[in-house]
Amino acid sequence: MANEQGPQPVHLPEAWAPESWLNREALQQPQYPDAGALAAAEAELARLPPLVTSWEVLALRRQLAEAQEGKRFLLQGGDCAESFKDCESGLISNRLKVLLQMSVVLVHGLRLPVVRVGRFAGQYAKPRSADLETRDGVSLPSYRGDLINAPEFTPESRTPDPRRMIEGHSRSAMTMNFVRSLIDGGFADLHHPEYWDLAWVAHSPLAQEYQRRVDAIGDAVRFMETLSGESIHNLNRVEFFTSHEALLLRYEQGLTRQVPRQWGWFNLSTHFPWIGMRTADVQGAHVEYLRGVRNPIAVKVGPSVTPEQLIRLVDALNPHDEPGRLTLIHRMGRAKIETALPPLLECVKREGRRVLWVADPMHGNTESTSNGYKTRRFENILGELDAAFDVHAAAGTRLGGVHLELTGEDVTECLGGARELTERDLERAYLSSVDPRLNYEQSMELAMLIVKKRGA
Ligand code: PEP
Ligand code: CO
Repeated sequence: MANEQGPQPVHLPEAWAPESWLNREALQQPQYPDAGALAAAEAELARLPPLVTSWEVLALRRQLAEAQEGKRFLLQGGDCAESFKDCESGLISNRLKVLLQMSVVLVHGLRLPVVRVGRFAGQYAKPRSADLETRDGVSLPSYRGDLINAPEFTPESRTPDPRRMIEGHSRSAMTMNFVRSLIDGGFADLHHPEYWDLAWVAHSPLAQEYQRRVDAIGDAVRFMETLSGESIHNLNRVEFFTSHEALLLRYEQGLTRQVPRQWGWFNLSTHFPWIGMRTADVQGAHVEYLRGVRNPIAVKVGPSVTPEQLIRLVDALNPHDEPGRLTLIHRMGRAKIETALPPLLECVKREGRRVLWVADPMHGNTESTSNGYKTRRFENILGELDAAFDVHAAAGTRLGGVHLELTGEDVTECLGGARELTERDLERAYLSSVDPRLNYEQSMELAMLIVKKRGA
């Protein structure tokens, strides 16, 4: 296995530099009108301190290698897009809380340690289907996320502003700082189901079963504490890692660094960058950029990807088949997973390639309601996840994690769940400016249903 600690280059990427992506076609990038302002912002970004460290990045890579071997399960979740105005204590701590509580349910039910990864501290850039948006005959650049421009439909707001990269770095740093402090403080007391909001359980047809599970988790936590004489917080300092879609390549490049006593380059804007479905062309700039950094990386895989294309991607991103390096996140949709996924699983298995397979049951299940909301049905999210476990079992491969869009708040953006949210309910608390998220209760319910499906 590669010596990941030593200073010697083990697998330096061939003909790569942090800016070599500039020679490839870069989709989904903004047009900055002022080249001088862009150069100044890039220079400033390149001097700012990084948001994560190389040893954290390598620790996550080792954990993902264990997940590939079935010794851990990945829980990756958070907002579709963060916004600068949502960089706020309550929203950040509630999102952390729901992820931690879901992970406790998964650890208990799957009998496996969980790798916790947030979609936060940098999830500020979004791919869009069109470069321009037209309203009443006026065309302006599409909103691409707060890292690039602002959502208001005015020329000032929509003009891409490179200073936003500096602001995005600051907001990410503030988020990271708060997350790290919460984790160092007493936050892990949330292992105790006594602190959870479980009123929804009574509304579920599985109420009794869920209550038994919650009681069992409480017993297990108290047992551990009695046994050791320590609170669970001292026993088990929780670890959280960050991730975001590496979309705005100038930003990613600015935080691509070399560090003392390590070979190669790291993206130190996040632990775990991923390539979105729309920018995953093997010839494209995003694949070129990410193939050269030593972080663990992920790629979203949609239903139109062929087995040949997928293997070319695996070759480009992990030519030496290194453990922990590559995660493939399939996002097929409930209707397509059973036909689209098996050929991909079989091909990667036949070629003997080492990947971590993760299911994103959100992005293939987006639909619009008659009253004009973008939504997802809980039953389709659950159905795709359920099918993902079965399709992997049939192929002799392993589903090693889930990738979800969720929030710790009581929003009404996805339909269904124990409280059976309807189209009318969407009007009550639809807050997302992009994709619909599972709310706190729906997220906890999904965790319970995963362990019902796969639990020990
Ligand atoms: C996302 O994760 O928000 C996203 C845009 O996903 P995908 O690239 O799978 O469409
Ligand atoms: Co999304």
